[in-house]
Amino acid sequence: MSLPIHSSPVHPEDSQTAMKHPSTRPWTGSPYRRRRILWTVVLVVVTGLLYVWLYGPPPSLASLSPSWKDFGYTPGSSPAGRVAQAKPQYAGEGPYADVQEIDALLHFILNQTERRLDEDGGLIRVEGLGSVPVDGTQPIDLRVYAANGDYNWADHKKRLSRYPLVVFSKTYCPYSQRAKTLLESYHLTPPPKVVEVNVRSDGPQVQAILARLTGRRTVPNVLLKGKSIGGSDELHQMHEDNRLKELFENNGITVTSKDDE
Ligand SMILES: *[C@@H]1O[C@H](CO)[C@@H](O)[C@H](O)[C@H]1NC(C)=O
Repeated sequence: MSLPIHSSPVHPEDSQTAMKHPSTRPWTGSPYRRRRILWTVVLVVVTGLLYVWLYGPPPSLASLSPSWKDFGYTPGSSPAGRVAQAKPQYAGEGPYADVQEIDALLHFILNQTERRLDEDGGLIRVEGLGSVPVDGTQPIDLRVYAANGDYNWADHKKRLSRYPLVVFSKTYCPYSQRAKTLLESYHLTPPPKVVEVNVRSDGPQVQAILARLTGRRTVPNVLLKGKSIGGSDELHQMHEDNRLKELFENNGITVTSKDDE
């Protein structure tokens, strides 16, 4: 049986080309076959990129890239969670330009009162992210501080304004006690909000975050509208210089210390 050599009419130009370059590139085959190979390669590459975009790199690749671990990549979390993890929400970025991480931390501590950064065997359960580790020395995804999934930061900041003065303290620390006693003597309205870090399981993490955000690692750490005004010594120095009352009043805090009565 003989194979038909020209089963279909050949375009004159095609036959000319074929005759001009007889078998110079035998591996390329017909133009149709070349195009089919090209499209297959494009399809494989696009599918691969789509997979990585949706699900992150396979574990063997993920272990090579530390950045994927930064968002607490946990193999057990849902695909949707992993998509979210690929896009961390940092304070001061894009839609969160007005959000300071210190405000987010204060929101977590003063609003999510039952939650802890280490509540789930050292991790924290975050809505949409699953359980993630928190490294206080690195910028933290804002969703960690809104672990319940409520990202209305404008609302959170409004609510925070009820606590212009927050004191990070330790129950057994004499310097913390001195600072709290001095502040009590001012009879402030609203009163200072005291956070005893040593009675929190995530106290070390909170202190690491405070060290990074306020530059003060020790307690007491007195925050006025999210900015550290110092510890016990700094507070007493300002008190002796008669600068403390004015500082409070300039920040909307009413002072009714005994001296005024
Ligand atoms: C926390 O915030 C929610 C909603 O923004 C509010 O309804 C609730 O009263 C707040 N809880 C505390 C303890 O501040």
